[in-house]
Amino acid sequence: MKVAVVTGAAQGVGFETSQLFATLGYHVVMTDVQPLDGPVACLRAGGGQVEGMVGDVSSEAFVESLASRVAQAHGAADVLVNNAGISMIQPAEDTTADQWQRVMNVNLLGPFLLCKHFGRQMLARRSGSIVNVASVAGLGGVIHRAAYNASKHGLIGLTRTLAGEWGGRGVRVNAVCPGWIKTEMDIKDMGSGAYTDDDIIDRVPMARFASPADVAAAIAFLADHQSSAFVNGVSLPVDGGWTGDASWDALRRKTRG
Ligand SMILES: NC(=O)c1ccc[n+]([C@@H]2O[C@H](COP(=O)([O-])OP(=O)(O)OC[C@H]3O[C@@H](n4cnc5c(N)ncnc54)[C@H](O)[C@@H]3O)[C@@H](O)[C@H]2O)c1
Repeated sequence: MKVAVVTGAAQGVGFETSQLFATLGYHVVMTDVQPLDGPVACLRAGGGQVEGMVGDVSSEAFVESLASRVAQAHGAADVLVNNAGISMIQPAEDTTADQWQRVMNVNLLGPFLLCKHFGRQMLARRSGSIVNVASVAGLGGVIHRAAYNASKHGLIGLTRTLAGEWGGRGVRVNAVCPGWIKTEMDIKDMGSGAYTDDDIIDRVPMARFASPADVAAAIAFLADHQSSAFVNGVSLPVDGGWTGDASWDALRRKTRG
């Protein structure tokens, strides 16, 4: 049975991805800073083979213990999904060094540590697939998100670098770049009054938010060696056409009939 490790698995995209991998027949190792008893029980009730381990992805001690638990129980992970992340909406000139560092720790240091420790297992086997969850905010700037955008641009840089470094030893590394998704993160961000549903819908050619399932399906495609055998180092937008469309909103709205 193939083993997939998914970070930030308690809710949102991470939970949806864990559920999809369980359905596809993976043994799923779910990890999050939040308690996982409920999410693990939910997937087990649906017949999934899953386990949970609580911890902070930005702690190297935790990541090492997670990797060694997977190595002892399963030999190595076949798939790693670096999904855990936090958002921060703040004008750049008001962003403190502590806020900046916290976002970098979770969104960039964490994925690096997971890549490092699970990458070693994968390289030893000469097989593995890593999918990093970046964002359209990793492909272009979005106002008032200096730390978040920088972390996601960095994650794409890490993805490209590891794809080059490890591709010749059987380990593929790719990223997905979702547009706005209806999850707790979005509800919290929107609650701050930063934007509305219509702001997002107007900007997206497909006129809707991404669903967690849209993102999970793209992750599963990149994770699977058969479906994406020669895909390595890409940052795949899952954004309904957002990053491909430079039109202005009024023009886009005219096409909707
Ligand atoms: N929601 C969006 O609009 C959107 C858009 C593009 C990209 N993303 C990215 O998708 C990923 C998932 O986001 P989501 O929308 O499901 O968010 P979410 O807030 O619903 O879920 C994120 C999960 O990560 C966990 N987490 C946070 N810090 C952690 C840490 N230090 N260690 C371990 N787990 C931690 C949280 O507890 C939570 O369960 C994130 O990387 C996010 O940046 C989200």
